[in-house]
Amino acid sequence: MGPLSDPPCTLHITGKQLLLTASLLIFWNPPTTAQVTIEAQPTKVSEGKDVLLLVQNLPQNLTGYNWYKGQIMDLYHYVTAYTIDTEITIFGPAYSGRETVYSNGSLLIQNVTQKDTGSYTIQITKRGDRTEGVTGHYTLYMETPKPYISSSNLNPREAVETVILSCDPDTPDASYRWWINGQSLHNSRTLQLSKNNRTLTLFNVTKDTVGPYEREMKNPVSSSRSDPVALNLLYGPDVPKIFPTLINYGSGQNLYLSCFEYSNPRAQYTWMINGKFLQSGRRLYIPQVTTNHSGLYGCSAHNSATGSERSTFEMIRVSDLSEIGIHPGLNPI
Ligand SMILES: *[C@@H]1O[C@H](CO)[C@@H](O)[C@H](O)[C@H]1NC(C)=O
Ligand SMILES: *[C@@H]1O[C@H](CO)[C@@H](O)[C@H](O)[C@H]1NC(C)=O
Ligand SMILES: *[C@@H]1O[C@H](CO)[C@@H](O)[C@H](O)[C@H]1NC(C)=O
Ligand SMILES: *[C@@H]1O[C@H](CO)[C@@H](O)[C@H](O)[C@H]1NC(C)=O
Ligand SMILES: *[C@@H]1O[C@H](CO)[C@@H](O)[C@H](O)[C@H]1NC(C)=O
Ligand SMILES: *[C@@H]1O[C@H](CO)[C@@H](O)[C@H](O)[C@H]1NC(C)=O
Repeated sequence: MGPLSDPPCTLHITGKQLLLTASLLIFWNPPTTAQVTIEAQPTKVSEGKDVLLLVQNLPQNLTGYNWYKGQIMDLYHYVTAYTIDTEITIFGPAYSGRETVYSNGSLLIQNVTQKDTGSYTIQITKRGDRTEGVTGHYTLYMETPKPYISSSNLNPREAVETVILSCDPDTPDASYRWWINGQSLHNSRTLQLSKNNRTLTLFNVTKDTVGPYEREMKNPVSSSRSDPVALNLLYGPDVPKIFPTLINYGSGQNLYLSCFEYSNPRAQYTWMINGKFLQSGRRLYIPQVTTNHSGLYGCSAHNSATGSERSTFEMIRVSDLSEIGIHPGLNPI
């Protein structure tokens, strides 16, 4: 490749840079097998912290070092260089203002940002044999931040609403995984992961897909997990039930009915007799009923969040106990 064939940005080439460009051309050759090693200190770095790319096993008789961002050693990727004899440091187009190269070749990056992740290449120039370049590579990863999940809707209505969960921050070079109820999640008819697993689409949310959801972010140096997020499914009411199911009462007995239905949020209940409003609340209590309490009792459950209302009816007959010879004052059951 030609290092200067495609300059991607305008460069203010100084005399020093021209010299450097010349040396880049001279030293452009395939990496040799020399065992220069680079390690990061600390091995896990988080945003805003400093990291030192420590170069070890340097060969003898060096003239200097060139650092590149990435694996391509061209002018565009050129960060900084150090020349041992003159103790001169040069900065290239990829220099961010936060890199410092030391006389021993190590590179300090201060106030690390996400943009600093990725691979770095050091090119070491040796005295005498000016055509031999020794290179070393290092891939810098940042400690993955704690991800957080946001939902397009935390209170979906059952079976009708689609919810999109997304996770931030989006971190380069990380892989993502979703968990539901502690189990790794895979695509299905009702759950769809985006290509990079960044978002998760839940079609027609049901009780099985309310979560809780967690998302894991992982790179070669660390992994982190979000707090769990569970959806509050809005459902119901279905047709309510009246308890007890007894329908025959004697006059003087107490009528004590309750109405029940699964619903989220909890339903509001209304009692009716023969189509007329009686009272609200889940329980209906009428002490010492008389025959004129016979009638069609209705319980209606209303869920204001789902907007639906369901009713159930029960015909209750109160007979005059003196007629059928049963002592008044006894409750059924
Ligand atoms: C260093 O370079 C000088 C001059 O080229 C040479 O005489 C010497 O042997 C070299 N030393 C090593 C350790 O390579
Ligand atoms: C290189 O120099 C830096 C700064 O003085 C130092 O922190 C680092 O340990 C040195 N690296 C080696 C391999 O000695
Ligand atoms: C680190 O970088 C951020 C944003 O790039 C900046 O706001 C902050 O002042 C920097 N901190 C230091 C200590 O340089
Ligand atoms: C997405 O998630 C699936 C299963 O949870 C996992 O197998 C896959 O490697 C992930 N893909 C990416 C790009 O992280
Ligand atoms: C979601 O519900 C709608 C309407 O009830 C239905 O047409 C659609 O097929 C459902 N989608 C899935 C993925 O089950
Ligand atoms: C039921 O009967 C009682 C007397 O037995 C009477 O006071 C009451 O008004 C009657 N209620 C209805 C709804 O007819």
